[in-house]
Amino acid sequence: MPRLAWAKATAQDKPELTSFVCTAPAKAAYNHHRKMKHHPTPWELEVQSSVKRMKVAKPDTEALLIGRDGRGIAAVSNFSLAADRRGFCVCAIAVAKRVQRRGIGKEALLVSLDWMRTMAGGRSTEMAVMARIDPRNDASRKCFAHCGFEYHRMDGAFEVWVRELVPVRVSHLQPSS
Ligand SMILES: CC(C)(COP(=O)(O)OP(=O)(O)OC[C@H]1O[C@@H](n2cnc3c(N)ncnc32)[C@H](O)[C@@H]1OP(=O)(O)O)[C@@H](O)C(=O)NCCC(=O)NCCS
Repeated sequence: MPRLAWAKATAQDKPELTSFVCTAPAKAAYNHHRKMKHHPTPWELEVQSSVKRMKVAKPDTEALLIGRDGRGIAAVSNFSLAADRRGFCVCAIAVAKRVQRRGIGKEALLVSLDWMRTMAGGRSTEMAVMARIDPRNDASRKCFAHCGFEYHRMDGAFEVWVRELVPVRVSHLQPSS
């Protein structure tokens, strides 16, 4: 049973999305010594920036889900159907810093998988789901691993993790001893 109230993003969500915070500190600080901006977890800052820029109006092949609690947006999930329509790609999962490490990342991913199954309809059993994960992002790797994803290969600097949209259960096919 999800703890957040999940719905597709609407235009009303946009102002709140632009102030969404999923990393600490919320901004990169200017390092005078190095003469450049610095953030301890730039991979998280990158996801946060992408959430702030996200358009809420999406084509039928894509979804932006918002999970709300009593204080506002607690989590965001963006996924899309691959161009060849043989699978989905999780583009971003982000949990507000104020509620991280309480199982909401896993909830966001499981709720998203349910939406994907609804979008895929009768083709669910033929489809895969993939995500590109920064290898430094332990929280993300654990979250995806917990939800049935497995490391598949590298794609440039990113790890590609995959799972079947509907896990195939073969136990009933095996002869009982
Ligand atoms: C990745 C993210 C969505 C996880 O959300 P969350 O609600 O904190 O995660 P959960 O509480 O569901 O925990 C998921 C797993 O990650 C682990 N985890 C969470 N934060 C962690 C951290 N900072 N370091 C190491 N492990 C961490 C949890 O222990 C849990 O592991 P388990 O299944 O073995 O128990 C969240 O950290 C986030 O929004 N990060 C910034 C944006 C981002 O990087 N998104 C991912 C790229 S798509």
